[in-house]
Amino acid sequence: MGLKERVPPRRTGSHVLHRSLRDTPPIAVGGHGVWLVDADGREVLDGSGGAAVSCLGHQHPRVLEALIGQAGKLTYAHSSFFSSEPAEALADELVGHEPGGLAYAYLVSGGSEAIEAALKIARQYFVEIGQPRRSRFIARRQSYHGNTLGALAAGGNAWRREPYRPLLADAFSHVTPAFAYREQHATETDDDFVGRLVAELEAEFQRLGPDTVAAFIAEPVVGATAGCVPAPEGYFRAVREVCDRHGALLILDEVMCGMGRTGTLHAWEQEGIVPDIQVVAKGLGGGYQPIGAMLASRRLVDALRDGSGAFQHGHTYLAHPMACAAALAVQRVIREDRLLERVRQMGDLLEQRLVERFGNHHHVGDIRGRGLFRAIEIVADRTSKAPFDPALKLHARIKRAAFERGLACYPAGGTIDGRNGDHVLLAPPYIASAQDIDMIVDRLGAAVDATIADIVH
Ligand SMILES: Cc1ncc(COP(=O)(O)O)c(C=O)c1O
Repeated sequence: MGLKERVPPRRTGSHVLHRSLRDTPPIAVGGHGVWLVDADGREVLDGSGGAAVSCLGHQHPRVLEALIGQAGKLTYAHSSFFSSEPAEALADELVGHEPGGLAYAYLVSGGSEAIEAALKIARQYFVEIGQPRRSRFIARRQSYHGNTLGALAAGGNAWRREPYRPLLADAFSHVTPAFAYREQHATETDDDFVGRLVAELEAEFQRLGPDTVAAFIAEPVVGATAGCVPAPEGYFRAVREVCDRHGALLILDEVMCGMGRTGTLHAWEQEGIVPDIQVVAKGLGGGYQPIGAMLASRRLVDALRDGSGAFQHGHTYLAHPMACAAALAVQRVIREDRLLERVRQMGDLLEQRLVERFGNHHHVGDIRGRGLFRAIEIVADRTSKAPFDPALKLHARIKRAAFERGLACYPAGGTIDGRNGDHVLLAPPYIASAQDIDMIVDRLGAAVDATIADIVH
């Protein structure tokens, strides 16, 4: 090899394959409470906890203490040889009291992995109980269940699916979401709307053959793709009834809306139903470590125990001790500091402030959500609900304008159908104060106004 070949290439920029290949994000070097700090010392208010992740804000002392304590004892032991103290304690914390019959926690490294586990345990359950025809999953359009191929196939967001369509299994089909602002007809009551959605679900069971359906999967409050969309009263009870009648399972994806985000630990508590399988992530570990969990009912796991004796799945980092220690500390802080009450109080305040600031705004068509999980939907025209031209990428402009004003929020496009529509999602940390909430709404208001003024002359 000549001298020339041995000279290392000159650094021309970041070697991280960032989300955008056109620009490089600022470097975050620190954080405290609801604030993030970049390398220039600039402080940014974390109004969305990233993507509804940082439920305790940044550098929470009790979580750091737990991480340091665990690092001093044991950082890793493979789950095929050992369990660990934090894994056992975390599972006890999550399902020791068997909420809604959920009795086992399968601890993975994030939301998508947890969704894969949910799909696979549902399928394996039916194989083991002698119903191998059940291999179909019904999901909803405009849902997001993750980016691994199984999770992406389950999701119903057209834009995210499009380039990978040839790789996605056809075991998944999609029905209309319970998205009242966009899907409910002007002449329909809430009951009519629920009735129509449930009839469509029933028809999909019939089209597929009810004995081929393994599960229906849905986010109780739709997150990133549609922007904090709760279902109308009675929808999930009716869905549960359809699943039960056909012997199919109900999988609830609470990756974004779970672990207290909507004001109850589990979003399903507000729906009067329980799932057979629940998936949690983001707020489980609050970003202190990568972690997700698939929570399964005793009935399912007992069937596997009585059958093959094992869940036929696994990853190298299952039940990682550091991740479990972080999540355990996060969940203890939420419980011991009674943060769910705070989520409800601050969530009401956030709603009130959003209504004051945007309730009469010409370009805000809907304000929705629950707890500290709220969104505004931006429209070109409030009466017709027409969106702005997607080519304008309004959501990206709002994100930039907010960031310039010291606010990190989570806008997205494709709100209506994966292509059209814009919304801004807010998910402040549960520790946010009333002043923080005011500042989030003020900065967002300024960003939205400035962005739209640039477009609408
Ligand atoms: C509802 C929902 N499910 C699944 C996922 C995937 O989680 P992860 O990004 O941790 O893989 C997400 C992530 O945004 C989500 O919001």
